[in-house]
Amino acid sequence: MIITVDGPVAAGKGTLARRLAARFGYGYLDTGSIYRAVALRLLRAGTDLDDSRAAVAAAGSLDETDLSDPALRDEATGDAASHIAAQPAVRAALLAFQRAFAADPPDGRAGAVLDGRDIGTVVCPKADVKLFVTASPEARAGRRHAELRARGVEVSYEAVLDDLRRRDARDSERGVSPLRPADDAHLLDTTNLSIEAAFKAACDIVAGKQATT
Ligand code: DC
Repeated sequence: MIITVDGPVAAGKGTLARRLAARFGYGYLDTGSIYRAVALRLLRAGTDLDDSRAAVAAAGSLDETDLSDPALRDEATGDAASHIAAQPAVRAALLAFQRAFAADPPDGRAGAVLDGRDIGTVVCPKADVKLFVTASPEARAGRRHAELRARGVEVSYEAVLDDLRRRDARDSERGVSPLRPADDAHLLDTTNLSIEAAFKAACDIVAGKQATT
């Protein structure tokens, strides 16, 4: 069983995907963290983010330590990730790893949940269940702002909203694998839906699919 969870930044897809994986006992891959890890390598080395040869080299040498670095969650890392993710060579370099995870999840688990931007459209176009999680920019910025404040980061709501709009535009307008729902994706708009209600709706969709396969 392959479940894809795509959507824009701060829509709640990570929380939803992680909970689905736990609920059904499937493996979970946060594909954004891979793009973030490549970006973090370049940021730390002071390498130009447009240097796609360096980015591809970083993509080919990622290990567990890269993927658990706390700095992955920094706003600057997310912004840099959105830059390098627009480069076709970087996306190609990360494709095989994501597909291998979906086809053969760790510990022999019976399924995999992958979240990102292009999982239902490009990485796993034949997935069993595709979810597209979205919410208004204002709702997403409000959540991200509260999250950052809770972590002690001093930033205004307006700055968070501006940054989120820039990231949305970059992720949606890039030429390769842009953010968009797959034709057969279930849309979950969490603007006025609690995470609990979204989780329940997603569980029902997955259970319905399990019953027919
Ligand atoms: O989901 P996230 O915020 O951790 O992702 C960080 C950036 O990585 C995002 O702005 C776009 C990019 N990304 C992507 O292009 N494709 C994916 N499957 C996952 C993330």
